[in-house]
Amino acid sequence: MNISPQIIEDIKARNDIERVVSSYITLKRAGSNFNGSCPFHSEKTPSFTVFPSTQSFYCFGCGAGGDAITFVMRMENLDYVSAIRALAERSGVTIPENVTYNNGKKEVTRSRVLEMNKEAARFFRNALFDPKYGSEAMDYLTKKRNLSTAVIKHFGLGFAPNSFGALHDHLKRLGYTDDEMVTGFLCGKGKNGSAYDYFRNRIMFPIIDVSGNVVAFGGRVMDNSEPKYLNTSDTPAFKKSKNLFALNFAKNHCDANMILCEGYMDVISLHAAGFQNAVATLGTAITSEQARIFSRYTKKVVISYDSDQAGQRAADKAFNLLQEVGVDVKILKMEGAKDPDEFIKKFGADKFAAIIEGSKTRFEFETDKTLSKYNISNVDEKIKASRELCRVIASFSSDIERELYSRKLSTILDIPLVSIQKEVASILRKKTNELKSKEQSELYRITSGLGDRVNPEGASNIRANKIEEAILGILLLKGDLVSFTKDKLTADDFVTPFSKSIYESIVSVYSEYGRLDISYIQENFTIEQFSRITKMMTERERLSKNDAEALNSLIESLKKEKTKKDDVDDSFDNIFDLIKNKKRN
Ligand code: CTP
Ligand code: MN
Repeated sequence: MNISPQIIEDIKARNDIERVVSSYITLKRAGSNFNGSCPFHSEKTPSFTVFPSTQSFYCFGCGAGGDAITFVMRMENLDYVSAIRALAERSGVTIPENVTYNNGKKEVTRSRVLEMNKEAARFFRNALFDPKYGSEAMDYLTKKRNLSTAVIKHFGLGFAPNSFGALHDHLKRLGYTDDEMVTGFLCGKGKNGSAYDYFRNRIMFPIIDVSGNVVAFGGRVMDNSEPKYLNTSDTPAFKKSKNLFALNFAKNHCDANMILCEGYMDVISLHAAGFQNAVATLGTAITSEQARIFSRYTKKVVISYDSDQAGQRAADKAFNLLQEVGVDVKILKMEGAKDPDEFIKKFGADKFAAIIEGSKTRFEFETDKTLSKYNISNVDEKIKASRELCRVIASFSSDIERELYSRKLSTILDIPLVSIQKEVASILRKKTNELKSKEQSELYRITSGLGDRVNPEGASNIRANKIEEAILGILLLKGDLVSFTKDKLTADDFVTPFSKSIYESIVSVYSEYGRLDISYIQENFTIEQFSRITKMMTERERLSKNDAEALNSLIESLKKEKTKKDDVDDSFDNIFDLIKNKKRN
């Protein structure tokens, strides 16, 4: 361990788990614990629990668990050391520079990646403005896409030269290592282990966060070749599901509303035409995290996706997610152009402002779509239309909305209100049941150990595994009992290798520091393994009578299980011996 327990303890003491978690999600008190909707999987019934007594969290739905540090690792997609730094920063603790992890391998930190990205952005921009490299790219942007130099500069656009080593060599001269370039997703790694430029012969769009950091890049080809875009994957400085393109500008222009587009080029066109409140997701459908970003910055979002079928389907999903976080959502009806970029070029900014003004609510949008699809003077088609629209109504989460839209639909289709209400209620019931059974089967999969990657041996040694988890759970809660078990229980008494490795870790930390806390052993395990370790601890929460006594009998039972298992293994050996001997005879 390279970060001392004192620092970890100090940080944990200043970052109460309940406060850390509440800065991301809403928690409700439940006895001595807190419950909330899990931020790591999608669920309707909250199974995410925070345990103040052990300063840990565990989700009984998806099995994610850990302490405040793990929580920040997962939420912010940070490695262990960066998460500690983030928490330290929040609470004014100083951590010595040059902390290493992973057996001494130097960490590639967020700040190092950000610095490197800034250099890369500068390099790409210089290449674009240097006629020796960038004349074709510049022509593409100014002539084909009609962008002014001012707009190109405003967005910091650039050009990645058609070379496998131009950026790599440049960054190397500035002191960045291959490892850093690969981790930062500016380079790929060839078969022979050498790093090569990932973006080649592409127009480069830097993604800039609200603090002005260049967190990632998108790179577009200048012809019709595939793939049209390459994007930075997740790095220590970036998670694409949590950023929005042009939010750095839009954040200052979003009091009334924000415009959500599909493409970088749409956003750039809109900003150039005066709509500086436009943003786009980064090559993926909108995520719930991005929806939450919108809710932090604005009250209203106008979805302005491409007018093709794919765009409209994506709009549907965006509608749901944005509605869930409580922003007022409208959808743009765009005719005569495939996307906002083309619309502005064809019809101008004023026309675009007009269709923003006339954007529709979800209900209006769906009603228009359905009514144009069916001829409702025909009974069968009217039934189909009413079914589809009842499904739309059922997807609204508020009772009031469902009631008001049901009334509207009753008028539009001339069907009695009660019939609509009944249909909506039955769809809702079905949906709830489906959701429940889905959550239950997920829970079953996790708890039954089927396909268990964390402890694959657990499923074939169910009893032993249960005993082991109980022992470890008690030790994790009552660290001082390690001094009591040390002489009675050795690592080799464990049946599953996973439990064995936890016990080894516990004993070694305890003998080094004379104390134990789950946070001390965290570094030795992956985030999934650590979730399981947290679970062992939380399940023992209620056990409190005589722990030493309980431990004693558990240790005895484990040893019995172990002997049984060894006997079985021996008897297999015997059988093999017999077979072998037979062959020999
Ligand atoms: N995208 C991607 N990878 C692809 C295609 C698209 O990541 N192979 C993402 C990009 O973020 C892109 C968005 O999806 O901006 C929309 O795609 P598209 O409409 O094809 O691109 P535009 O940026 O709108 O570019 P253009 O106007 O040149 O078609
Ligand atoms: Mn597009």
